[in-house]
Amino acid sequence: MSHQLLKGKRGIISGALDENSIAWKVAEKCHAEGASFVLTNAPIAMRMGEINKLAESTNSKIIPADATNMDELKALFEGATEHLGGKIDFVLHSIGMSPNIRKNIPYTGLNYDFYQKSLDVSAMSLHKMLSVAYNMDAINEWGSVVALSYIAAQRTYPFYTDMADAKAMLESVARSFGYHYGKHRHVRVNTISQSPTKTTAGSGIKGFGDFYDYADKISPLGNADANACADYCVLMFSDMSRMVTMQNLYHDGGYSNTGISNEVMEMFGKE
Ligand SMILES: NC(=O)c1ccc[n+]([C@@H]2O[C@H](COP(=O)([O-])OP(=O)(O)OC[C@H]3O[C@@H](n4cnc5c(N)ncnc54)[C@H](O)[C@@H]3O)[C@@H](O)[C@H]2O)c1
Repeated sequence: MSHQLLKGKRGIISGALDENSIAWKVAEKCHAEGASFVLTNAPIAMRMGEINKLAESTNSKIIPADATNMDELKALFEGATEHLGGKIDFVLHSIGMSPNIRKNIPYTGLNYDFYQKSLDVSAMSLHKMLSVAYNMDAINEWGSVVALSYIAAQRTYPFYTDMADAKAMLESVARSFGYHYGKHRHVRVNTISQSPTKTTAGSGIKGFGDFYDYADKISPLGNADANACADYCVLMFSDMSRMVTMQNLYHDGGYSNTGISNEVMEMFGKE
């Protein structure tokens, strides 16, 4: 059900690769809530062509940009403001990639070139996006920027290897830039720490399926799915959350505050 929470707002949504992507659901919900936006992804991800379907169904333009490349990000913000007819009100950073995870390299033996790539793509890219927007003055007063994170930023999940470090950095960038952009233009910057979700990035992690089930049994509400995450993003882009900034917001069905659940206890029960 639509409430037109984003009526008249203009946005940039990164990271929609296929219909399982969290960003895909965010785009669909933002469209239903009355927003207009530009979709973006790395040029290499466009080759799959799936994103064209989303552009069609949400009546949006695609502007390819590698989120590690400052020139491409400048072209993205310029193209988006021109196409949408004004400054941007919301930005979704939904970007993550670790070559170390892709190649199954354990944390204790990380390849450092890959490590740098993981940090650049998954964390520094948020700083780059914000820096481009800040210096171009491309985001409206009270605009909202959301990046997607994971609880491995706070607690150790061995299978998440260098992405844990990238998420810790991502959340720190959101706090630090959130301060400066808040002072400068009342622009809000937050991270949403999402449950394990069945997507290309999620499923690429070894043991993801087992862990997904574990998290589902720990969380009193069960795992939050991509559609629910999209609802939360809409709320964060809307004026209903205008005093929230520099936060890491758990969207995980209660997982982060649960020590153990009866269901998991029973799996180990000896009595
Ligand atoms: N799936 C999960 O379990 C889960 C849980 C918590 C947080 N997240 C985070 O949610 C975000 C979205 O991931 P997803 O699960 O929807 O998977 P996904 O694979 O659908 O999305 C990741 C996106 O990052 C894009 N990308 C990679 N390199 C890029 C670059 N250089 N420039 C621009 N874009 C680039 C990919 O093309 C892809 O669209 C990521 O930040 C991820 O870490 C995912």
